[in-house]
Amino acid sequence: MKGTVIIVKDIKEIRVAIDGPSGAGKSTIAKRIAAKTGLVYVDTGALYRTVGLYAYERGISQDDCAAIVACLSEIDIKLAYENGVQKVYLCGKDVGDSIRTPAASMYASAVSKLPPVREFLLKLQKDLAKKGGVIMDGRDIGTVIIPDAELKVFMTATPEARARRRFIELEEKGMAQPYDEVLRDIVERDREDREREASPCVPAEDAVNFVNDDYGIEESADYIIGLMKNL
Ligand code: DC
Repeated sequence: MKGTVIIVKDIKEIRVAIDGPSGAGKSTIAKRIAAKTGLVYVDTGALYRTVGLYAYERGISQDDCAAIVACLSEIDIKLAYENGVQKVYLCGKDVGDSIRTPAASMYASAVSKLPPVREFLLKLQKDLAKKGGVIMDGRDIGTVIIPDAELKVFMTATPEARARRRFIELEEKGMAQPYDEVLRDIVERDREDREREASPCVPAEDAVNFVNDDYGIEESADYIIGLMKNL
């Protein structure tokens, strides 16, 4: 049947963990897989972005770890899935795209390095995974959140391929930046993510390493669906 994906295992039993550095296309590809298979797509980066947004809106400095940790007790995050789209409610209010601004991205990166922030978001993520039938993307899904996931994929692309994609994306948004600068930022962020103490971005021992330089979105999604068919 055209457009139907047959997976041998019951879809509700499957938990797919997609980890990897920024710019590898994790969220776009995971969303595509969700649309094709009926899995629920859980974007865990949105949670760190929401904590970052809260700190930013309170005027807390990114470097003020104590103040960030102190404000966690005021933060109430709830997730809802409406027509397969994840919505994040921060203290009762839908955050929408406000977590996607450059400031929220910078704050997300800063807060995600703090172990108390990771601990704060741990139960919520584990509860989401428990229900099954999910594809979650992040940095530590296969290593910390669902260490017993049915399928773990560490998705990456070379820094040059990711810089080329980001360069084109920025140009299209009218925010062009020299290619060398884009590449330098990616290499620097990779190093920080890999070397940070709390949940570094590294593949789980049993993850499938998928370098997608030469794959488009559809091909990448189909490759991972192929792995799911063999579960
Ligand atoms: O995937 P993203 O760009 O939306 O993630 C935002 C930030 O949160 C990024 O700096 C990495 C961090 N993050 C994390 O540390 N662990 C996760 N599971 C997801 C995101």
